[in-house]
Amino acid sequence: MPLELRGFTLADLPRGLEIEQLAYAPNPFTPVLLPGPFPEETKKMRAEFFIKTFEEDKTARHAKIIDTEIEGDEHEQMIAWGKVHVYQEPPELKPRLFGAGSNIEACDKVWGGHAGATSSRVISPMCTHPTQQGRGAGTILIQWALEQAQGLGLTAYLEASPDGHSLYLKNGFKDIDLLETDLSQWGAKDMHKIWNMMWYPKEV
Ligand SMILES: CC(C)(COP(=O)(O)OP(=O)(O)OC[C@H]1O[C@@H](n2cnc3c(N)ncnc32)[C@H](O)[C@@H]1OP(=O)(O)O)[C@@H](O)C(=O)NCCC(=O)NCCS
Repeated sequence: MPLELRGFTLADLPRGLEIEQLAYAPNPFTPVLLPGPFPEETKKMRAEFFIKTFEEDKTARHAKIIDTEIEGDEHEQMIAWGKVHVYQEPPELKPRLFGAGSNIEACDKVWGGHAGATSSRVISPMCTHPTQQGRGAGTILIQWALEQAQGLGLTAYLEASPDGHSLYLKNGFKDIDLLETDLSQWGAKDMHKIWNMMWYPKEV
């Protein structure tokens, strides 16, 4: 299997943000929530958020998946990445900020609350390049996160998109809530869905 888990460095960030943008592009709610255009200032804000998290947030751990058969260096070989936060105390989560190009009212409706994020570990975000999905990269990232949770005896919490939901169920997460948001005023045909999910460590 040419897929390998590696540490994520700040030099991976441009490729990581490109993968994130491509991964969410096919999502039918992206044109509603993030219609763009995104000025340089918004892209800078997003990059700065990740740099600050990477450098200053001691709870954050990042990893990437590379395909060793892709020609090039590790940044070019990167096909997926993810981040987890390990909280020893319940986190004080700050409201998310959305830059120009976002539909701020719709984003607040969908992501404004942090109802379930009181547990000791949050997995967010995780994305695989669209041409590389279904090859197991997401599974490796989830297992990386869960091995750490198991080692520390911690529960894990995440907010699943429809793309990730079945993958997380397969890896032992349980649904605790389904948040449905009506975005029809912006032309969305279906309800936007986010599953709050928990994973519990095995007794040892
Ligand atoms: C969710 C996401 C990260 C999954 O990444 P991925 O690399 O495709 O994950 P995997 O390949 O491990 O698993 C995807 C599916 O392929 C299957 N799969 C895993 N390895 C496989 C293999 N070697 N061959 C065939 N299928 C495989 C998995 O069982 C899974 O099936 P499912 O869709 O029925 O759950 C990816 O779809 C993505 O980036 N989506 C857009 C962003 C997003 O929504 N992120 C999640 C936020 S919560």
